[in-house]
Amino acid sequence: MKLIIDTDPGIDDAMAIALAHAMPEIKLVGLTACFGNTFAAQSSRNARYLCDLLGFVVPVAEGAALPYGETEYTPSANVHGPEGLGDLETVPQIGQNVDETAAQFLVRMAAQHKGELVVCAVAPLTNIADALALDPAFATNIKELVIMGGAYKHNGNITPYAEANIFHDAKAADVVFATDMPIKMIGLDATMLTLLTPHDFHEVAAAAPKIGGFIEHISKFYLEFYRSVGVTNGCPMHDATAVLACTHPENFTFEAVGLRVILDGDEIGQTVADPSRPAVEVAVGVQGKWAVDLFKERVISLG
Ligand code: RIB
Ligand code: CA
Repeated sequence: MKLIIDTDPGIDDAMAIALAHAMPEIKLVGLTACFGNTFAAQSSRNARYLCDLLGFVVPVAEGAALPYGETEYTPSANVHGPEGLGDLETVPQIGQNVDETAAQFLVRMAAQHKGELVVCAVAPLTNIADALALDPAFATNIKELVIMGGAYKHNGNITPYAEANIFHDAKAADVVFATDMPIKMIGLDATMLTLLTPHDFHEVAAAAPKIGGFIEHISKFYLEFYRSVGVTNGCPMHDATAVLACTHPENFTFEAVGLRVILDGDEIGQTVADPSRPAVEVAVGVQGKWAVDLFKERVISLG
């Protein structure tokens, strides 16, 4: 499958990009960068750095720096670190972004690979909404949009109601859920079932010192954040779980639900059922041990 990951790397984004590279079912044809865990420029820099570390080259297109309607944005550095990759204090600029915006790249690639391109969006949905605005045919040119985001029958993680990717651009997310694109939403109902423990990271690092060792190193910051908010048995591999939904949807449980996003008030960013909207395949479960074991096996294969 041809895949573009729209990403805000991001510690769990880094795991997802490594996983996608290691999956024989996936041909990664590009990365598009968005604000979110980091500033947009950090996201594209980190994406290029990760490609170099992993030993492959794909186009990286930088996209949105701000949520719809906002004039400023500040990442939560306490979750993914000051540069977006844990305690790394500097991340080198390797290569360059392509000279297209993320939306332009997404639209062009969807048309070029009509019916074949899966987009896995693991960041705020601003680039996706921008692509739809740039070319409405994006909605029918892509094969499928697989989103890491939202919380259906699960509490939020950035507020009691909202998951972070949706919260960071509620307006853009609502635009996306209003279309009749084929969408899978891999939200906290599923991703909180795929926890990686310090032992898992140590296993991966021991078996794959370079890539596994890097992932173990940056995960320490992420584990500490989750411990600080009371999740003491590991850190969820949110974005990697969305990648696995692209290749192995049969190991997830989905409900067909039309969704809208609350756009104001305390519940802003909450994903709620709306029967007037086109149905989205909402993941309400996943085989968590299968997901964790496959992630570890694939990353170990990277050495
Ligand atoms: O809520 C988890 C999501 O927000 C993940 O994509 C993580 O990388 C952050 O972007
Ligand atoms: Ca992310």
